[in-house]
Amino acid sequence: MTAIVLDGKLVAAELKQQLANQAEELARHGTKPFLATVQVGDDPASTSYLKAKHKAAAEVGIQSEHHHLPADITQAKLEALLAQLNTNPKVHGILVQLPLPQGFDEDSIIEKIIPYKDVDGLHPINAGRLSEGREVLVPCTPKGIIKLLSHYRIPIAGQRAVIINRTTLVGRPLANLFLNRDATVTVCHSKTANLPQIAKTADILVSALGREDFQIGRRYVRPGATVVDVGLSRVGGKLRGDVEFDDVSKRAGFITPVPGGVGPMTVACLLENTIQATNVQTGRG
Ligand code: GUN
Repeated sequence: MTAIVLDGKLVAAELKQQLANQAEELARHGTKPFLATVQVGDDPASTSYLKAKHKAAAEVGIQSEHHHLPADITQAKLEALLAQLNTNPKVHGILVQLPLPQGFDEDSIIEKIIPYKDVDGLHPINAGRLSEGREVLVPCTPKGIIKLLSHYRIPIAGQRAVIINRTTLVGRPLANLFLNRDATVTVCHSKTANLPQIAKTADILVSALGREDFQIGRRYVRPGATVVDVGLSRVGGKLRGDVEFDDVSKRAGFITPVPGGVGPMTVACLLENTIQATNVQTGRG
C-alpha cells in the first residue's frame, strides 16, 4: 500500500482564497481585519513562523503589525503592551508567539489577552469553551488538522484517535476537537508506557513530538491508518517531521508530509480566526 499524501499546502491555499474574499467583503464595509503579533527575544524558529504568518496575512488582505521586544523586557511591560492592544479598536487579533524566554509566566501573559481577540485560542476562557464542546476561537494547529482530515473526507466519528502530545497548543485542544466529533481519544506523552502498541491501535495517529532523537516508524502504525505529523525539527540543516515518511507511507492509508502538511494549515487557520474575531467585533459574527 502507498499512502495518499494529505496536501496541506493545497488545502491551505483554497482556504486562503475564501478568506481573501471575506476580507474583501469586510473592506467594502470599511473594516480592515488587523492582526498584531508579539515576539519576545530572538528564537530563530519563532522568527521564521512569524514571518510566514505576516506574509500569509498580507496575501489575504489582513493588515498586521509585529511587536518585537527584547528578551530582557519585564513581564509588566509586556502586559502593558497587551493592555494597549486589547483596547485598540483597530486591532482584531492578538498573538503572542510561544515559547516566551525563561522567566516569563506564559499562562499569566496569555490570560492578559482579551478573549475575543485571542486568535490563538489559548486563553482559558476559549480553552474552557472548547472543552465544553463550544468551538469559538480554537487553537490553529488542531483546527488545521481537523480541516485537513475533513477536506479528504477522512471519517472521525467512531474512529480511534491517538495523539502523541499533551500541550495546550496541540494535544489538549485536538483531543477536545476529536471528542466533539465523536472519536475515541487517547492522549500519550513522555511517561506513556507501551507507546508503539497504543499508537498501533489508532485509526488516526497524530504525532507532535518534535524530537531530533526519536522517529515514528512503521511499528507504530496500523496498516491503512491516517498519520498526521506535527513534529518539526532541523536535522543537519534539513527540516524533518516526527515520522519516517518513506517507511510509514508504505503502511499508512493517508499521511501528511513535512513540510507542506500541517504547517500551512496552521497559518491559514490563524487567518481564519482573525477574520472570525473581526466579524464578532464588528457585529457580523
Ligand atoms: N509556537 C508554536 N506554534 C505556535 C502557535 O500556534 N501559536 C503561538 N502563539 N506560538 C506558537
